[in-house]
Amino acid sequence: MATAKFQALRGTRDILSPESERQRALVNTFAEQCHLAGYGHIMSPIFEDLGVFLRVGESTDVVTKEMYDFEDKDGRRIALRPELTASVVRAFVQHNPPNLPWKAWYEGPQFRHERPQAGRYRQFSQVGIEVLGSDDPHVDVEVIALGWRFYESLGMQQVTLLLNSLGDESCRPQYFTALETYLRDRAADLTEAARETLEKNPLRVLDSKREQDAAVIAEAPLMVDHLSAETAEHFAAVRSGLEALGIPYEISPKLVRGLDYYTRTTFEFASTALENAQNAVGGGGRYDGLAESLGGKPTPGIGFALGVDRILLACDAEDTFPAPSTVPDVFVVDLTGGGEAVVVTDRLRQAGISADRGFDGRSMKAQMKVANRAGSPWAVIIGENELAEGNVTVRDMHGETGQTLISSADLVTELSSRLGR
Ligand code: HAM
Repeated sequence: MATAKFQALRGTRDILSPESERQRALVNTFAEQCHLAGYGHIMSPIFEDLGVFLRVGESTDVVTKEMYDFEDKDGRRIALRPELTASVVRAFVQHNPPNLPWKAWYEGPQFRHERPQAGRYRQFSQVGIEVLGSDDPHVDVEVIALGWRFYESLGMQQVTLLLNSLGDESCRPQYFTALETYLRDRAADLTEAARETLEKNPLRVLDSKREQDAAVIAEAPLMVDHLSAETAEHFAAVRSGLEALGIPYEISPKLVRGLDYYTRTTFEFASTALENAQNAVGGGGRYDGLAESLGGKPTPGIGFALGVDRILLACDAEDTFPAPSTVPDVFVVDLTGGGEAVVVTDRLRQAGISADRGFDGRSMKAQMKVANRAGSPWAVIIGENELAEGNVTVRDMHGETGQTLISSADLVTELSSRLGR
């Protein structure tokens, strides 16, 4: 019987070294910046009660079409998280932290059953932040600036910040009515899919990328023209804060985002280095009603999530943020059978010197070939005669200083000094 050979499922992928190291370096950079800005790390479960995510928006594709939901062995409806905002707000409501605003950062995999293509996966990774308990527009500015500076720190220069305000309960209902009336008047010109969306959430019709809908959308009333005085003032304060920091933005009045919980400030980071369809490298906004809809006290909130996989594609396109080196400091070649290399590599590693070695008792030539391939600047060669006299040879693999016989006891000190440590 033939043995089954498996592959990673469609839309998922194995990320091997050094790309995996690059991803980790990206998360570390993000973590450092969050730490500098007073955000604590939150680690929440990868799966939650389905109800948590239904609050994300029952008229969105993320919830209605793309959720990995299932019944577990206890008959509960469970979902793999499609995003982290709902989980973080659920955690906030559950733990009711005393000091507000509460600022949290996160990283990890998300799951959406989308049609896989370049930059769009069924399992993908995000880094993000959420701030709960303040509707000060300076919080909006802090959040957006953290995202912007993060892209800058990766060396990305082709990121555009798209900004919009989606209003709140003081003005959104009136705008909704105006938009719905307009779209119903023009329903005959819309695609069937847009007409279906109109029944669920008129706002989301503005998100249609279909050509036929474009003409209708172009003339649709805009939320930014219907903001209440208070919401307009909040939006103006966000804009002037960004200006004070020299962060450029484009007002994008039709930016509605793919999730239903947003109010007031919404934004997206688009990379002009990527194909249009998958050029969003991050997005976020305010969700002042989400905590309440998850059973908590009314609590304003804002945050963003950045797509790690897409950011790295954009970094490739911009030729920035390369994978960190995985080259070991030292390669140990043992010509005495390999047992001595066990001890030597252990000593080096304990001293913080990264060390790899040859295995399988291979010849000097074969082991040197592996050492060359590893790219280490230094090799330690252990020969029978040297070993008997308590010595080892240190070889400069880049050839500048040749090779030196030293006492085994001095190996760590000698290599540390050659490595400049
Ligand atoms: P989102 O716009 O759905 O927002 O996702 C944020 C980012 O995740 C996107 O801009 C994109 O870079 C990446 N992303 C989304 N779907 C995929 C996919 N299938 N494959 C690869 N990357 C993807 C949210 O998730 C909100 N929770 C953001 C937020 C936080 N709003 C407030 N707080």
